[in-house]
Amino acid sequence: MKIGVIGSGTMGSGIAQLFIENGHNVILKDIKEENVRKGKEIIERNLDNKVRKGKINTDDKDRIISNLNTTTKVEDLKDVDIIIEAAVEDINVKKEIFKELDKIVNDEAIFATNTSSLSITEVALSTKRVDKFIGMHFFNPAPVMKLVEVISGVSTSQDTEEKILSLCSNINKTPVKVNEAPGFIVNRILIPMINEAVGILSEGVATKEEIDTAMKLGAAHPMGPLELSDLIGNDVVLNIMEILHKEFGDDKYRPHPLLRKMVRGNQLGRKTRIGFYEYE
Ligand code: CAA
Repeated sequence: MKIGVIGSGTMGSGIAQLFIENGHNVILKDIKEENVRKGKEIIERNLDNKVRKGKINTDDKDRIISNLNTTTKVEDLKDVDIIIEAAVEDINVKKEIFKELDKIVNDEAIFATNTSSLSITEVALSTKRVDKFIGMHFFNPAPVMKLVEVISGVSTSQDTEEKILSLCSNINKTPVKVNEAPGFIVNRILIPMINEAVGILSEGVATKEEIDTAMKLGAAHPMGPLELSDLIGNDVVLNIMEILHKEFGDDKYRPHPLLRKMVRGNQLGRKTRIGFYEYE
């Protein structure tokens, strides 16, 4: 299949890697040449790591990379089978992207958004193919995490849902069907848990290391909540809490002031080299 991936940041490049590793052709699009170059570099670095670990050989790497094309021109996406959008988490930006794609990409193509919490139904309305519009929510790091939440909006057809469920299995992911609701399943549980960990830290109940160790060893999580927040991005965590708070109108989803303060101070986690922890 020919897949168009929009956005070459952490999620977009991870999604592109996943598809090329599974034999699909990918066109990775971003607005700037520099961004697509960085996205391709991330993928090459990950594949080099696999070669170093003996998981693939250099011929495999070359074959996988040959499945990847990059572009900054939306016209290059006109004959893809599926679009997966992983641009910034801003509903207006996403609507603009899909509105433009809808005019250019062939009518049969399915449009999927990797949004972590925005309304699929609302974004779909920016196109004339609401029946072929769906949510495909991947998890960071996308090449590794096994789950994809497949979210149907009110007008998503059963045919579209079935095609996407089968595509997920084809790329060795486990899909879970979700009806549209704020935060879907994972983020509605995971993000308030991180927010609670910020509260525990802020109240001086325990240090960041103790909180993370407690959840790793006491609840068998692969990462503690604060190191996970640094991986996801503290700005992304704050944004999701704000959406949950607004949509449900329940104060149990109120973002912790310490999280807000860190985001204002650009302490976003790994991407700014400082968050709850410091990174080289
Ligand atoms: N990209 C690609 N591959 C990566 C990677 C990355 N960024 N980070 C790690 N990997 C690979 C490693 O190369 C390694 O591969 P092999 O098994 O083939 O050798 C494998 O993942 C395991 O990595 P490590 O041995 O380095 O470290 P680890 O065992 O501690 O695993 C981890 C790292 C996979 C990140 C693990 O700690 C983990 O699962 N953490 C939790 C991640 C999580 O919860 N993600 C969801 C966040 S929520 C979200 O994304 C949704 C949202 O909308 C906000």
